[in-house]
Amino acid sequence: MKGVILAGGLGTRMRPLTNVTNKHLLPVYDRPMIFYPLATLVEAGIRDILIVTGGNNAGDFLRLIGNGSAFGLKHVNYTYQKGEGGIAEALGLAEHFADGQRIVVILGDNILERGIGRHVESYQRQKAGAKILLKSVPDPERFGVAVFRGKKVLAIEEKPKRPKSSCIVTGIYLYDAQVFDIIKTIRPSRRGELEITDVNNAYIRRGQMTCDFLSGWWSDCGTFDSLHKASSLVAKQRRAG
Ligand code: G1P
Repeated sequence: MKGVILAGGLGTRMRPLTNVTNKHLLPVYDRPMIFYPLATLVEAGIRDILIVTGGNNAGDFLRLIGNGSAFGLKHVNYTYQKGEGGIAEALGLAEHFADGQRIVVILGDNILERGIGRHVESYQRQKAGAKILLKSVPDPERFGVAVFRGKKVLAIEEKPKRPKSSCIVTGIYLYDAQVFDIIKTIRPSRRGELEITDVNNAYIRRGQMTCDFLSGWWSDCGTFDSLHKASSLVAKQRRAG
């Protein structure tokens, strides 16, 4: 399996912090944000990794991470997303890199307490399709929200005003090669972006989506509050040793 970290976008919701740098280079406690998803992939045994960057600071990723020797890697791949076309558009840039193989995708601002190794292993046993990782949160309206019938996920609603559950789709997605064909069929949302939720709904409609629940704490860093929360959680974890 190969890994893709999506770290593009202009981080407009995080200004002025992102006026002169990319959101994914901001500190989360004692490390740059991008180190966390990179470590999550490496700990899950993924060695072939692509980082999709964007904005004015793409070169800084190369200076910071290089070929990933600090993570025990020999080589890291990079590509560039122009503008803010959305998560699914950024992922579309990984088609050549994936080269028909399955991929683990992680958003560059997703910070996890524990590893994803067991989810990657169970996905590898899955015949085809995709897997998403869910988490119950107090503010589901900020995310892609799962709509259930019993234990079955019927659909995902992106940032609904009235969420139908507290279970949200975290920014960790496992996909087979169909993902690139699906991306080519979806259209921009009202905010003008290709939404990853539309990709996930296409897999659900095909009956090819499985869901796992993520254990341990999880945070994105998409707002000042969640960035602060992620830093505090990491600080507490470091102190606990
Ligand atoms: C994105 C996805 C959303 C998902 C979230 C996880 O939201 O669109 O479905 O729940 O990541 O971090 P965004 O960070 O673009 O607001």
